[in-house]
Amino acid sequence: MSISQPSGGSATLRPSAARAVLHTTIGAALAVMAQPVLAVELPPPDRLEAETGIPARTVEVIEPHVSSPGHQLRVSYRGFGMAELLDRLFGERWKVPGTEVVFYGRDGYRSGTESGRFLSGSAWLVVGRADGKPFKVDNPDQHETGVPLGPYYLVWDNLHDSAARAQGAYGWPYQVVRIDLATPADYAAARPQDTDPLAAEGFDQARKYCLTCHRVAGIGGGKFAGDLREVSALLSDQALKTWIIEPQKMHAGTTMPPLNAALPEAERNHIADVIIRYLRARPAADTTAP
Ligand code: HEC
Repeated sequence: MSISQPSGGSATLRPSAARAVLHTTIGAALAVMAQPVLAVELPPPDRLEAETGIPARTVEVIEPHVSSPGHQLRVSYRGFGMAELLDRLFGERWKVPGTEVVFYGRDGYRSGTESGRFLSGSAWLVVGRADGKPFKVDNPDQHETGVPLGPYYLVWDNLHDSAARAQGAYGWPYQVVRIDLATPADYAAARPQDTDPLAAEGFDQARKYCLTCHRVAGIGGGKFAGDLREVSALLSDQALKTWIIEPQKMHAGTTMPPLNAALPEAERNHIADVIIRYLRARPAADTTAP
């Protein structure tokens, strides 16, 4: 549908399949800054510079998808400074504490990063390699090679920022087509009841490691059709833990990656346990008697 904006501009707005947000184009976003947050559909990369006035620059990073502690591969990309771009797209709203900046991939992958990270670290929305080589990467964790990165790929200046280096490839979404902001209220229905601190910890870990692909109570990525809390209720703790730590054992050749293999075994076990605790916890929104 096409609606008229109060500013006099006109934007094409489509309801999202994932949740009840409205999408808009950059031009419209710039025109309706006073409106509530709208998810922004990014234009083709060759138009971003003209639409935002932000010049493309070169940034060198350690490419985490193909690097390991003993073998660091550096790649130079061309792209746009993320903090500057967020200012253009969302004004000051993205800086409100508790806000998450959310990147959606073409295939429904969803990657949220706490907005303060874009102020303390240096992130870039890149559109190609500086050396002109194909804009692709191998993703051994997901058993995929030559994965196209475009139209947009979020990279972090991990050469100069050790916090960015420590996060590995988490928070480096590729094939990005849309950017949105999420507030704590958006997660309300997925939250566990406050009484169990381990479930609360599991919720934070699930946001980081599971809700990129899976959805709980309507929030999260769209790589898997069912509600993760509901499908988990049908599985034993042991089966659930194997899915998290060694998904290949549950389904050979699956595209679901094992939980962060860069972490020590004990920490992976702990994270898996608290995620399971979260998935078994009563939802905050559940008002039925125990
Ligand atoms: C990169 C995307 C991705 C991430 C991240 C991910 N999953 Fe999955 N998950 C999938 C896909 C795709 C399937 C279906 C896989 C298959 O059947 O091979 C799946 C399947 C599952 C299943 C089996 C569901 C069933 O049908 O019985 C469980 C349970 C599960 N995931 C839990 C988790 C948990 C818990 C996390 C976080 C620790 C997680 N997943 C992280 C993509 C992902």
